[in-house]
Amino acid sequence: MPKSGSLWSPYLRMMPHYAVAILAVAAAFVAELLLNRFLQSTPFITMFLCAIVLAAWLGGAGPGLLATALSIFVLLFYFIPPLDTFAVAYQEMPRIVLFAMAALFMVWVCAAQGRTAQSLRGARAELQASVQKLEQLNEEQRQTEARLSEAERELRLTLDSIPAIIWRGGSNGYVQQLNKRWFEYTGTTFDQVRGRRWKSCVHPDDLEHLVDVGNKYVASGNPIDSEARLRRFDGEYRWFLFRPVPARDETETIIAWYGAVLDIEDRKHAERKAVEAERQAEVTRRDAQDKLAHANRVATIGQLTASITHEVNQSITAARTSASAALNFLNSSPPNLEEVKEALECVVKDTGRAGAVVTRIRALMRRSPMRMDSVDINEAVREVIELTRGEALKNKVALQTELADRLPVVRGDRVQLQQVVLNLILNAVQAMDAVPDEAREVRITTSESSPGEVRLGVRDTGPGLTPDSFSRLFEAFYTTKPGGMGMGLAICRSIVEAHGGQLWASANTPRGAMFQFSIPVGKG
Ligand SMILES: Nc1ncnc2c1ncn2[C@@H]1O[C@H](COP(=O)(O)OP(=O)(O)OP(=O)(O)O)[C@@H](O)[C@H]1O
Ligand SMILES: [Mg+2]
Repeated sequence: MPKSGSLWSPYLRMMPHYAVAILAVAAAFVAELLLNRFLQSTPFITMFLCAIVLAAWLGGAGPGLLATALSIFVLLFYFIPPLDTFAVAYQEMPRIVLFAMAALFMVWVCAAQGRTAQSLRGARAELQASVQKLEQLNEEQRQTEARLSEAERELRLTLDSIPAIIWRGGSNGYVQQLNKRWFEYTGTTFDQVRGRRWKSCVHPDDLEHLVDVGNKYVASGNPIDSEARLRRFDGEYRWFLFRPVPARDETETIIAWYGAVLDIEDRKHAERKAVEAERQAEVTRRDAQDKLAHANRVATIGQLTASITHEVNQSITAARTSASAALNFLNSSPPNLEEVKEALECVVKDTGRAGAVVTRIRALMRRSPMRMDSVDINEAVREVIELTRGEALKNKVALQTELADRLPVVRGDRVQLQQVVLNLILNAVQAMDAVPDEAREVRITTSESSPGEVRLGVRDTGPGLTPDSFSRLFEAFYTTKPGGMGMGLAICRSIVEAHGGQLWASANTPRGAMFQFSIPVGKG
């Protein structure tokens, strides 16, 4: 609701203008009286018209009309006969009407002029206000732009200071922006790498993988890191980790790509060194294992020396006997060639047997790195039995075999597998010391325990395994024998495991111990 003060304020503002109208008419009246007195005859209407124009000019239509009305009253009363009355003579009417019309016309002209001037003033004020507002807006925009360019400068500075290559690409993955690190590292210009041209900096061997990973990423939507080499400005390549992240809109459509590319050359170098060190360690370990296995073979053969020597000796003695017999048959007259032939055949057989034993011993004694071949386990077992037969005989142990027919061959080192069998048989034979002669029995079995797996078992009728020895059997240097080293089973287990198999012990029924190992077919 407008306040009474504000309601009255336009009228109060107009008061001086009305006062001016009254004063102007009064002044015209006084001037007219003075002029009449001193000049007798004057164009009295002019003075009043001037007063009306002044009032209308300064105050507008209202004061102009007031001045017009007052002027007419003053003219009628004081200057137009009959004087001192408002009555008008008939012949004076046109003069009064003309004066009124002229006055009204002037009031109208002055009021119109005043309104025009006022609206012009208003328009100018509005224009000034608009200009001022525009200037203010311009200033604000300038400040916003300055802030934006400062923020952009800071952002670029930040991006350039990050110790990684940072890039931005379009939805199609085309590179649109790269930070300083890229240009410093590759020595390229933006035009040389714009769009998809950056690929020219990737090592040709890594490019396909990098693109592949990128495609998988887009298809799955799951972030995937990839590694590739980037060419440095001097032509050298270093390894980098590529980590792209897509920006999506509310419909999950990819609208841009952002990515960081981190130098991982030092890490890669350390990895390569670690792999090399690991490989070296593996070589050293294998070499040590080979040496140990060889030492164990030599020691085991050493234990068999007496029985093997005895066996070879027997063969040689038999051969000599046969050779003597052949000589006798030749010296007889006539020489009995049939008998000579038979005796010589015995010589060949006996020397052949001795030669085979020596060959096998030499093979076992030789130290050579692990060599994977196709091994017929039955055949390998038979050869070992040949070597241990003398020892078994010496210890009054009956060696029995139960070898499965059509056993698949395994991939392995023949000498090392024979070493395992030899150790197990020898342990079994040695365990028999404590049992009566007639109960000494060692049974060697082979089977295809499950498809793709060959199993070998050595069971004896010895005292079996005590709980203590059962838990420590495969420990290095665990032995209960006075002259034992305690390395046999430990080495056997490492050989079997190197073939991808397993070696374990259990109780034999009704008594004794059983050692078994299984090896996968075609593996190891
Ligand atoms: N068939 C078996 N019956 C009972 N005990 C056994 C049998 N085989 C091995 N053992 C026990 O396991 C121990 C460890 O055997 P391993 O073959 O490792 O060493 P070792 O035979 O004592 O010495 P070497 O290093 O000369 O072979 C043996 O000392 C023995 O106590
Ligand atoms: Mg042993």
